[in-house]
Amino acid sequence: MAGTAAGDGETLERELDEMLEIERFDPPEEFRRQALLSDPAIYEQAAADPQGWWAGQAEALHWFEPWETVLDDSDPPFYKWFTGGKLNASYNCLDRHVEAGIGDRVAYHWRGEEGERRDVTYADLHRDVQRFANALKDLGVRQGDVVGIYLPMIPEVVVAMLACARIGAPHNVVFGGFSAESVKERMEFSEAKVLITVDGARRKGKTAPIKASVDEVMGDLDSLKTVVVVRHAGLDGVPMSDGRDVWYDEVCAAADPVCPAEPLDAEHPLFILYTSGSTASPKGILHTTGGYLTGVSTTHRHVFDLKPESDVYWCAADVGWITGHSYIVYGPLANGATSVMWEGAPDYPHRGIWWEVAQETRATILYAAPTAIRTFMKWGHEIPEGYDLSALRLLGSVGEPINPKAWLWYHKVIGGGRCPIVDTWWQTETGAIMITPLPGITSTKPGSATRPFPGVFAEVVSEADGTPVESGQGLLVLTQPWPSMLRTLYKEHDRFVETYFARFGKETYLVGDAARADRDGYFWIIGRIDDVVNVSGHRLSTAEVESAIVAHEKVAEAAVIGQSDDDTGQAIAAFVTLNGEIEGTDELVAEIGAVVAERIGKFARPKRIIWADDLPKTRSGKIMRRLLRDIAEGRALGDVTTLRDPSVMAALESQIQDAE
Ligand code: WT7
Repeated sequence: MAGTAAGDGETLERELDEMLEIERFDPPEEFRRQALLSDPAIYEQAAADPQGWWAGQAEALHWFEPWETVLDDSDPPFYKWFTGGKLNASYNCLDRHVEAGIGDRVAYHWRGEEGERRDVTYADLHRDVQRFANALKDLGVRQGDVVGIYLPMIPEVVVAMLACARIGAPHNVVFGGFSAESVKERMEFSEAKVLITVDGARRKGKTAPIKASVDEVMGDLDSLKTVVVVRHAGLDGVPMSDGRDVWYDEVCAAADPVCPAEPLDAEHPLFILYTSGSTASPKGILHTTGGYLTGVSTTHRHVFDLKPESDVYWCAADVGWITGHSYIVYGPLANGATSVMWEGAPDYPHRGIWWEVAQETRATILYAAPTAIRTFMKWGHEIPEGYDLSALRLLGSVGEPINPKAWLWYHKVIGGGRCPIVDTWWQTETGAIMITPLPGITSTKPGSATRPFPGVFAEVVSEADGTPVESGQGLLVLTQPWPSMLRTLYKEHDRFVETYFARFGKETYLVGDAARADRDGYFWIIGRIDDVVNVSGHRLSTAEVESAIVAHEKVAEAAVIGQSDDDTGQAIAAFVTLNGEIEGTDELVAEIGAVVAERIGKFARPKRIIWADDLPKTRSGKIMRRLLRDIAEGRALGDVTTLRDPSVMAALESQIQDAE
């Protein structure tokens, strides 16, 4: 199968169709021979003694003091791992590598939008993190204080995260695509004392004045004492308030250069990361130090078959999501890897930029989202074929189900038919990859994330009673605790238990995805069962978008659904009822988009707005999104008998037809 260069579009199309017939792809012999793990017995070994297996993985980290207990499961679902042990994530990511004499190894080949190159070594990070950690202390940050981070993809984001980890201040990173209002909400919920941000962020040749936008909303937040501003975009006239705002470079220059890493309890909070759930208010996922670092370093090493001396690893996510936390920052650094960090978009300055960066850095491993792969597919195979990608040896996928066609294209066009693909399923909550192939062991089937990682236990159970489903669809659950699991929702312990452990009891983690297991025990993820929409791998709650839309003064009511989309997986469609006699216009569509951009972020703007005189509701007043999805996707309507007013659906159908 492998090797043949894709010819013209038609031939490629035919070849991909032929490949669709292939059921499974075995690890290429050449890959298997050099792989870190190639003996399938690892699965049984881990299953026979999961705690022993995880403890073995944790031993690869540096501990100031050893743990007493591997797993404390005395109070489910509040599990604790490696209790009694003391460690520091920043020490594990930096000091021990510098001490081992590999300080000049490049940690990040940073590549900027305008062609800038910065190669940041482990020694560089070690130096910068110590200074900034001391600067944070000088600003009054103490162990346990929450520090907000709202930065673009620049090395300083890593420095900021590790400086927090070094002194035991949990960080709360907000993805740069979120609006300043979202940042404020997250700072408020977490009572952050300090926020680290930037003068401006560059995106496709334009510069967004981030600090100025933050200022517009942050004024009345009492808990926030200091804003640290990184100079990046070279903006002039950045507003700085006396007594609150300081420049990053100035506080670093004034700080002591030596800051020993604090020995912290294994269960010390490492970070909070807000993610979307079923309701409008985001959930603060809390991860702690020992278990999280064990989970991400182990999976990063084994899922990506990492050879830190020779690999150049590129995770093309944003640091602001869990993928970035685990597989740009903590996993790769704990393993002493050399990574690529790309500042910008996939189509600026041109549509071949990823491949240009991969060629120039001789990237060997690429980890990307299906939505990006589908976009590259649409742009055409000629673009990547114009670059030398022969250094690539392994490809990864994350964030949403990957359709077999995209999988095969990735395999053939990007991977030259020689690279195994690891389709990795996991979540913000799981901290680390949970279901995935091991590239030197597992035969892959395009579209399936295959099997649980060693030491992870997953099942598909029936919706009705939680009993295992032999074949067919059900709910995905994780049946045993794992080290990198979320510990709670920040300041919302009841919601934590309610969301994940109420349905099937305190020992069964409800994932929130529907899935199917096949006769080989392979898992096929179908999608979310709650009102969470996955747009280009970005997780959004329908309630969150609805509450932004109804903030527009002309809107009476809104119902948001995720509609299947060829490019973005799912896209936001909003059914909107306007006040009184107001007519829906293009102008209003733009205004509603602007409100959503301001409240949440541009990426959450609805792709489609459908004006509706009324919305389908049950007798108890609950909006039936299932029916709205049927309508939006042009399907025959499901059962409408439970509706308070079934005629609403006919009206909606005719409204949709008028619009098209
Ligand atoms: C949800 C979690 C995992 C980091 C990025 C997203 C979906 C994730 C896959 C995959 C099918 C996937 C699930 C999951 N998802 N990876 N390989 N195949 N679906 O993290 O924002 O917490 O979203 O993303 O629906 O529940 P997240």
